[in-house]
Amino acid sequence: MTPKNFENKIEEKIAEAARMLATAEYPVCFTGAGISAESGVPTFRGPDGLWEKHDPQKAVSLSSFRNQPEAFWDFARELVITSGASPNPGHQALARLEEQQILKTVITQNIDMLHQQAGSKNVLELHGSLEKADCRDCGARYSWQELEKILKRDETPECRNCSSLRIKPRIVFFGERLPEKVLENAWQEAQQADLMLVIGSSLQVYPAAGIPDLTLQAGGKLIYINADRGSRPEIFQLILTGRAGSILPRLADSALKISRGD
Ligand code: OAD
Repeated sequence: MTPKNFENKIEEKIAEAARMLATAEYPVCFTGAGISAESGVPTFRGPDGLWEKHDPQKAVSLSSFRNQPEAFWDFARELVITSGASPNPGHQALARLEEQQILKTVITQNIDMLHQQAGSKNVLELHGSLEKADCRDCGARYSWQELEKILKRDETPECRNCSSLRIKPRIVFFGERLPEKVLENAWQEAQQADLMLVIGSSLQVYPAAGIPDLTLQAGGKLIYINADRGSRPEIFQLILTGRAGSILPRLADSALKISRGD
């Protein structure tokens, strides 16, 4: 296929997705690391993924955090500091769709807070976020602003009260349960949705990866916007292969035009 044909095909698919989005009663989206890739945040899997450089059992497991919190902070530093991450046009398009009362909810696996920074309000963070942290020894609380300064100096956060190094951000480590209320809300949203945009996720980590199935089982439709076709193409009504930061702004423009009746 020539590049021109490919572009036409993508344009047709974007137009179809926009029609579905503009006419859906309760559209939601489900996002993963891929939506932040164009902000410079590395994804987890694949040749340049974080799991190639950091052992997940060391970086984000509770047992390792007890003895070696530096491994987590090195991982977190690479995730959000080194990249200097700020929202990209993909995050911004979703925020615009919510503001214009088309998109109802963003369900995300990401801990990078970029959806909120872009202006999305109704965000369910399945794996928590780096926004707040607590000292596991004395209970002192930390904000991201405070931790960010320490990480930027290439240091490991140490508790200002008790000097403990065990300052744990409120994110889900391997072996921990997802925050119950958030997960219940995500299940409800997925079941209520008649359309879910699944964006930038390999759909490999459960229970989060099972959330699109709830929409499907309740009779809703799924659209996949991802750099590759993923491992379960059969569950999607429509697959838009490409970069979220390029596809989502065009999709949002088109859906907004349709909903305004332009
Ligand atoms: P993955 O790294 O598994 O998958 C990212 C997906 O995004 C891949 O399918 C890529 O092809 C795609 N992608 C890359 N760049 C893209 C772009 N610019 N536009 C669109 N798609 C792009 O990340 P997740 O599925 O989010 O959990 O991973 C799920 C969970 O695994 C994470 O939340 C994390 C990790 O272990 C915990 O830490 C608990």
